[in-house]
Amino acid sequence: MAKVQVGIIGAGPAGLTLALILQKAGIRSLILENRSKQYVINRVRAGLLEQNTVDLFNELGVGGRMRREGDEHHGVYLSFNNKKIHIPFGEHTGGRHITIYGQQEIVKDMIETCAERGIEIKFEATATHIEGVETDAPSIVYTEGGAEKVLNCDFVAACDGFHGIGRKHLPKDSYQEFRIEYPFSWLGILAYAPPASDELIYSYHKNGFALLSMRSAEVSRLYLQVTNDDKVENWSDERIWDELDVRLDDGAGFKLNRGEIFEKSITPMRSFMIDNMQHGRLFLAGDAAHIVPPTGGKGLNLAVADIRFLSKALINWFEKGDDSGLKTYSEDCLRRVWRAQDFSNFMTTLMHKMDEHGSYTNQLQKAKFDYISVSKNYEATIAENYVGLKEI
Ligand code: APR
Ligand code: PHB
Repeated sequence: MAKVQVGIIGAGPAGLTLALILQKAGIRSLILENRSKQYVINRVRAGLLEQNTVDLFNELGVGGRMRREGDEHHGVYLSFNNKKIHIPFGEHTGGRHITIYGQQEIVKDMIETCAERGIEIKFEATATHIEGVETDAPSIVYTEGGAEKVLNCDFVAACDGFHGIGRKHLPKDSYQEFRIEYPFSWLGILAYAPPASDELIYSYHKNGFALLSMRSAEVSRLYLQVTNDDKVENWSDERIWDELDVRLDDGAGFKLNRGEIFEKSITPMRSFMIDNMQHGRLFLAGDAAHIVPPTGGKGLNLAVADIRFLSKALINWFEKGDDSGLKTYSEDCLRRVWRAQDFSNFMTTLMHKMDEHGSYTNQLQKAKFDYISVSKNYEATIAENYVGLKEI
């Protein structure tokens, strides 16, 4: 039976970052991932990295391609009823910024680095249950190639996303669950089309929300608010471009560059979290414990922020027998999780069509937007949350 110090479930941003930090400290871990390597590195997700996240990837020595191919942004546009304002980051955050680099790209970089550094990832290995978390010798039972196997470890890190098994192993009475299912989804596309803006544009329009983002000088990433029962088949390429043009129109001649759409998918929007992320020797991190709607671009960054606390706590335990960081792990993470829940909910409810155009709710959205456009203080609040607070 195999034994490692930390058994990690999930090769997403959380699990991979944890394995790489632990390896640097000489702590042996192994990752179990139920999908294939090909699936994981091709899974299209968001691509907004906070400065803290970029700094950590650089410290870990996985930032080479991100520095070359990622795109630094020092501001963002918000548009409401076709009026566009710019929020600069630098003056409000002491020069901090964000980087646009696709999540699957950094996941690919980290998987390659794991291979180079001898960190084992078992792909197509599905964790089925976790045992002994209240003892000093927990284990993960998993299936690989049709056979049931056991991984013994000192600690289990469940970095297994929203649909993972980790959360199910917390005692039911050890946490409260919070959940909002929004009545809309995002239709996301990738297109071979040069981005028509130097910065991201988040836009409220009476037809619904739209977002312009990018992946490179040749590839645009764009999103449209759609209803939850909508289907990709309802959206021809032409309909998508026409609708994006309407929703992103700034009244000053803004026009998108059109090009071949090579990816189209619909993602539901939800806010979800539990307010306890640990039990005995089991620790949850990332989407396993919390989901935010992508409007604030916080998902990956929160996962990495959890791992900062978890890795530090584990290293202190292995090196000095100090369990103080393990004891306060949930509390330490939850401050930032709640901050991100608040900001993501704020951005979502500000920028989406929440009710009829002209309704009370819609007038409140407009009142907020008008306030942001004249107040340096409001602008600063948005800038520091968007870029990500250094500490909280
Ligand atoms: N056994 C093994 N692996 C599992 C199991 C299981 N039972 N269940 C889930 N997994 C794997 C999934 O296949 C996935 O690759 O766990 C991984 C979890 O990765 P992510 O979903 O990427 O979650 P996380 O690492 O927390 O990263 C959060 O990802 O979901 C996005 O937008 C989110 O950007 C955020 C980031
Ligand atoms: C993306 O580029 O995919 C992206 C950017 C910002 C967001 C969400 C997604 O808020």
